[in-house]
Amino acid sequence: MSNIALQCSHVSVSFGALKAIDDVNYDFEAGRMYGLIGPNGAGKTTLLNVLAGRQLQHDGMVLCEGQDISALMPYQRARHGIGRSFQITKIYPDMTVLENLRIAAQIKRSRFLPFWVASGYDRRLTSDIDSMLEMTGLTAHRNEIAGSMSYGLQRALELGLTVLPDPRILLLDEPLAGIGHHEIDTATRLIQAAAAGRTMLLIEHNMDVIMSLSEQIVVMSNGRVIAQGTPDQVKADATVRSIYLGEDSPP
Ligand SMILES: Nc1ncnc2c1ncn2[C@@H]1O[C@H](COP(=O)(O)OP(=O)(O)OP(=O)(O)O)[C@@H](O)[C@H]1O
Ligand SMILES: [Mg+2]
Repeated sequence: MSNIALQCSHVSVSFGALKAIDDVNYDFEAGRMYGLIGPNGAGKTTLLNVLAGRQLQHDGMVLCEGQDISALMPYQRARHGIGRSFQITKIYPDMTVLENLRIAAQIKRSRFLPFWVASGYDRRLTSDIDSMLEMTGLTAHRNEIAGSMSYGLQRALELGLTVLPDPRILLLDEPLAGIGHHEIDTATRLIQAAAAGRTMLLIEHNMDVIMSLSEQIVVMSNGRVIAQGTPDQVKADATVRSIYLGEDSPP
């Protein structure tokens, strides 16, 4: 049995004349933490969209644990264990933290469970919600209106909502974007906790964070994977260094 969680095979995406993804081949091994880096416009988000099923128009194939999932919609990919958080927060801002988590938990619960199964199941959901409150550091905020919390806490809640259905594969696009300096360490630890036992693919512009969290770094430029390796290998790579010249945060 292969231990490849997600596989891109000759994936290309064109927007008119622009080739946003240009023949990407990559195997993401199960249980590992991958960092996806590259300059603005390199194609990182587009690749994540392809993997999550939000960009169905592409050439090539996406395989999940060996199965071709190229034609599946995002919710169908969620059933394959693929969870994804978006750059834009998708919490319900007028509801409390707890209500948000309950809704995410309900998605997992079948409406057709007989009541004697459902009550045991609901108890488990309650304990899932409690452990998610703890992981995200939101236990004390459980009854607060989500939209009234700090941006950092809203992002923590969003990650909790994504992790609650227990996806085997987690795709995160810039989870630290917009988070204040003083909240970065907490948010980084949360991402690390969320990654435990999963395959994670993380896009992040904060080089310190992505280099410290990732086992493997994948570098994209102009729609192509131009380098890959451990953080140390990638930091020493001459091509990577050259594409980052003039950037604010070289690796
Ligand atoms: N829906 C779209 N229609 C047209 N062009 C698009 C679309 N989405 C992305 N692009 C273009 O495709 C290229 C890759 O974009 P993408 O968002 O994947 O880059 P990125 O690596 O995520 O960049 P950033 O670091 O700025 O988020 C860019 O040139 C972008 O302008
Ligand atoms: Mg992007």
